[in-house]
Amino acid sequence: MMELPELQEQIGQIKQDLDQQLPNLSAHDVLESFRVEFLGRKGRITQLFKQMGTLEPGARGEAGRLINELKDHATVCFEERDKLRQSEVRRQALVADRLDVSLPGSQHALGCLHPMTLVQREIEAIFMKMGFDVATGPEIETEYYNFEALNIPADHPARADWDTFYIEGDRLLRPHTSPVQIRVMEQSEPPVRIICPGRCYRRDTQDATHSPVFHQVELLWIEEGLSLAHLKHVLELFTQEFFGEGYEMLFSGDFFPFTEPSVQVHIKAPGATNWMEIMGAGMVDPAVLSNVGYDAEKYTGFAFGLGIERMAMLRYGIDDIRAFLTNDLRFIRQFS
Ligand code: PHE
Repeated sequence: MMELPELQEQIGQIKQDLDQQLPNLSAHDVLESFRVEFLGRKGRITQLFKQMGTLEPGARGEAGRLINELKDHATVCFEERDKLRQSEVRRQALVADRLDVSLPGSQHALGCLHPMTLVQREIEAIFMKMGFDVATGPEIETEYYNFEALNIPADHPARADWDTFYIEGDRLLRPHTSPVQIRVMEQSEPPVRIICPGRCYRRDTQDATHSPVFHQVELLWIEEGLSLAHLKHVLELFTQEFFGEGYEMLFSGDFFPFTEPSVQVHIKAPGATNWMEIMGAGMVDPAVLSNVGYDAEKYTGFAFGLGIERMAMLRYGIDDIRAFLTNDLRFIRQFS
């Protein structure tokens, strides 16, 4: 027979052991062994209930109350700690999953415009402001538009200057933008005021100033009463807009089958010693006007072909034309 005080002592001991463990009950396995030790099927509190049978019947009620009190205490302690543990697990999962919405997003590389595009657009804008329209034509041309209509017959020695990459039959990669003049004039009546930017191809060996692929802007203005003085004025306005003050311009005589007279235009930066040839130009040859059905007695006009690479080189101080084609991003990125 066990006496009540002995049981009370055991209860006291168990409560003391249990309370001692409380501060450390955070990890799952510690908490689980706490549960097993006190509340498990073979746990210490369950054992107490089993011992009740050895008490005298009169003491059993009090013993049951005391043990239940201890059991409730243990259960509350366990459940509180278990709740804390579970919320800690959730908190850690949230921390691990955390999305910091204040972080900058992953950036996609933004492209930039190629210096040739920038310069071409700028040239277009300047001439559009003066009232010129932008026209384009095919890069694969026929001999008729590239030569005959421009007053370069098959046996003419000037053809050699523009004989380039033939594709098949009478088709070739255009060596200049002048054929666009013909295409536009065929489609419209004077006055004609256009510029034609585009890619051209020539049999040039690549070096610092030559490239077999390059760009031109053609200009054509046909109307009554135009003279070389108008051409000069247009060019002066353009140079001033594009380069700024202080650039000098020089005209020298040249020959093109489609202009008469023909000139070569050079410009010089302020303080520079060298002249740079930037275009061929001239008054449109009456034969060209007749070829498109214009009245050559009534209309006159002028045209030029400007090298865009040259303009970009002068503008940005680039000394090698090959830089435009080698796709070195360090070069290209400098300009936008
Ligand atoms: N088409 C000529 C060339 O490429 C340039 C030019 C254009 C000359 C218009 C006169 C008039 O060399």
